[in-house]
Formats: sequence, C-alpha cells, structure tokens
Amino acid sequence: MPTITDTPSVIAGQHRSTALEQAIARDPGAFRILTGDRPTGPLHVGHYFGTLANRVRLQQAGVELLVLVADYQVITDRATGPALPADVLGLVADYLAAGINPDRATIFAHSQVAALNQLLLPFLSLVSVAEISRNPTVKEEMTASGSAAMSGLMFAYPVHQAADILACRANLVPVGKDQLPHLELSRVIARRFNERYSPDVPFFAEPEALLSAAPMLLGLDGRKMGKSLGNSVPLRASADETARLVARATTDSQRRISYDPAGRPEVSSLLLMTALCRDESPHAVAAEIGDRGAAALKAMLTTALNERFAAIRSRRAEFAADDGYLREVLAAGNERARVLADSTLNSVRRLMHTSY
Ligand code: TRP
Repeated sequence: MPTITDTPSVIAGQHRSTALEQAIARDPGAFRILTGDRPTGPLHVGHYFGTLANRVRLQQAGVELLVLVADYQVITDRATGPALPADVLGLVADYLAAGINPDRATIFAHSQVAALNQLLLPFLSLVSVAEISRNPTVKEEMTASGSAAMSGLMFAYPVHQAADILACRANLVPVGKDQLPHLELSRVIARRFNERYSPDVPFFAEPEALLSAAPMLLGLDGRKMGKSLGNSVPLRASADETARLVARATTDSQRRISYDPAGRPEVSSLLLMTALCRDESPHAVAAEIGDRGAAALKAMLTTALNERFAAIRSRRAEFAADDGYLREVLAAGNERARVLADSTLNSVRRLMHTSY
C-alpha cells in the first residue's frame, strides 16, 4: 500500500508489481526468480513475514526459484571465519524449514559458482564510478565508514548483485523498496550489455523488481530489526527463548492497547507481529486486548509466535541435526547454478568476441 513518503519510482514499482502478480498467476513458467541473503546469522520472524513466506508462495505458484547464499557479500565489510560454514548451513536449514523445496528450488552460494563472479568484470566496465557512487546503499556506507575505510568490494556490490541476477538469467527479483536502486542498476547493465554486444537480438532480459506487500516489523526494542542486533525472534528460537525475548520488548505505559504505528511504534509493531502470526488484522488484536495493557499483549504475542512457528521450528531442528543433508542440498544447488552461469558466461564470451 502506498504511503505518503513514497517516491514516484516506488509508486511506479508498486503498480508494476501488481501487473507482474497478474502475469505470474497467468503464466508462472515465464518467470525465474533470484533472491538471497547474506549468511550472517539465523533468519528471524521479520525475514519470514517479509520475504521467506513470499518466496514459498511464489514457488507454490509454479515460478522457478533460485536462492543465493550471498557469502561473497559478507566480505564486503568483514573477514570470513571458521563460523561461516555453520551460518551458511543454518541459512539452508532456515530455507528448508520455511518451505523452500530443494527439488524445485536451487539453493547455491556465491563462492561456489566461478562463472557468476567472472561476470563482475565485464559488468564493471559498463557502469561509471559516478553511477555506482549514486547508489543509496553505497552512499550511506560511504558516509558511515568513509571512503577510506570502505572496501572496493563494498563499492562494487550493486554490480556484483547484477551479476548474481544476470548470471542466472533471472527476470524477477522480489525486493523491498530500499533495493529498487540496485534493480535499476541491474537493468542498466543488461541494457548496456545488449546495446554494446548484442544489438540485434537483446541477450539479457532486464530483470524486474517485484515489490512485496509485506509490512515492516520493528525489532523488539523498537529499532530496525536486525539479525545481529539481538532484537529479533529467530526462527529457530525455542518456545521458552521466545517468551524471554518478548518479555524484554519495549512498550509504553498506556493500559489501553491501540494500533497506531506513527504514535505508538513499539506497541504497534508487537500488535502487527501478533496479527501476522494469527492471520488477523492488528486492529482486531488490539481490540481483543483492550485495556489489559502491555503484559497481556506480550502474553498473546508469545503464544501466537509459538503456535505459528511450532511446525517450522521442529522441521528446522531436524534439518539442523543433519549437516550431511544440508551439504547435499547446497552441493546440488551449486551444481545447477554452475551449469546456468557457465552457459551465460559462454554466451557472454561469444558476444564479446572473447572466445578463443
Ligand atoms: N543484498 C541481499 C541482502 O543483503 C542479498 C543478495 C545478494 C541478493 N544478491 C542478491 C538479493 C540478488 C536479491 C538478488 O540480503
């Protein structure tokens, strides 16, 4: 739903996404989705309602789904360490538990698909330093850490993301509003590649953003929810851990609970989380609690989370106990992604006259 702060490009993206949803319903086989996450910690309920549930929905609708474990995006701002394999396999377990089906979807990792990464070089030649500098995420990063401290890979990461998408010849990328500029850069790269190297028959399709309708959940402390901020409920949390996490959540002192995202952001986010778990509206949840206050809200949220995620959690525990299976799933996905990316790179070489 559009909000007052939406820019014209976000509103245009929302309109386009509505049309895309209709096209998907008519002919799901015409779409191939690439999406992914950095393996920097366990996924949480914000990821579930924000993207995971949507991926599973699109997979069930018959769209081909590729899911990237973006390990080379981790090293944009930190070194990898011995804990990385556990984070990578943990992410795979989260995906499978949430309902991503490895027989239908391809789960793969950056570092295992050489041809994908090689595409970064020709793609970097298609965009200017000034264009990359205008990307909002890169700009923010530059302000936050200063260009002296920012790694070259961080600077190049929107172009690397274009390589992710185009290596797989994906034409649809489910994103949040903040990722629209990345998608626009991927489209520019596809267009310029075609203009320079394949003017008669365009080789790359320009990938499209599919904006999710999912509302933004705040962290339990009222700040942005983050994997490493300790303010989320991880998918894998036990019922007791969930109760402890929710008990610490920030609320306010008004007894009467109301859904008012602008005026009472913390309480409203807890209501929204409860409502999402129960497939209800946050207003209905607020009305049910009435003037029983924050304690009743927290009790209701704890129950709602524990009921909604019980099955996912028990599946996740089974997957997590079977490292061998998780590795097999990833190895099979890596192999499928390699076949795709190799074929793309071969065509790119041919079109660029670099096949000898
Ligand atoms: N940037 C995404 C994140 O931080 C992960 C990602 C990498 C991605 N490459 C992508 C998402 C390509 C969509 C498409 O979680």
